Amino acid sequence: MRIIVILAVLCMSVLAMPIQSAEGGQTESPDKAPKILVAFFSKTDNTKTIAEYIHSLVGGDMLRVTTKSPYPADYNETLQIARAERDNDERPELAVTISPEDMAKYDVIFLGHPIWFGTIPMAISTFLEQYDLSGKTIAPFCTHGRGGAGRSASDIAKLCPNATILQGFSTVGSSANQAQNDVADWLRQLGFIK
Ligand SMILES: Cc1cc2nc3c(=O)[nH]c(=O)nc-3n(C[C@H](O)[C@H](O)[C@H](O)COP(=O)(O)O)c2cc1C
Repeated sequence: MRIIVILAVLCMSVLAMPIQSAEGGQTESPDKAPKILVAFFSKTDNTKTIAEYIHSLVGGDMLRVTTKSPYPADYNETLQIARAERDNDERPELAVTISPEDMAKYDVIFLGHPIWFGTIPMAISTFLEQYDLSGKTIAPFCTHGRGGAGRSASDIAKLCPNATILQGFSTVGSSANQAQNDVADWLRQLGFIK
């Protein structure tokens, strides 16, 4: 009986040892941390504020997606341009983005945007359509002007059919700078932080 117990303990400690890698005897933890990208589009920096909270809590890399032709400072002019883009199903060209090869390195993408006309801005469509995000995990977040997240999550899911879309986070843009605790609660619920 004593021998069986000793053998069982020996087996368990061997199983709990780190995995030995094929090259050069380096060790690798079995629960390797996922590679995280916090990517966002933000015209007036509300979504940027949320992106920065997320990044400060989960780490990883940060990418601010921008368009080649910047939107005007004036709200109504932006509204007109963005409405035409939506009506014509346009894909505004991006000035800052990453290559499909670089995107392939990430496991989890926190994807942020303002709500425009009840959903994602067309720049987010341009961004997502560049990649095959099969097998990746996407955690969407957005800010809005009290209209809520609308159909943004389902529109993101349509553009990334083989990705896992997690429960998203949304908040009113004008309160973004008070949303730090809500962001932390969301990340806790998703299991990214303790
Ligand atoms: C073109 C445009 C369309 C918008 N459409 C909506 C909308 O449908 N619903 C809503 O609640 N807010 C809407 N807003 C407000 C933005 O979603 C809100 O101000 C957001 O926090 C801006 O985020 P940003 O600072 O990251 O750009 C719209 C704003 C713009 C410029």
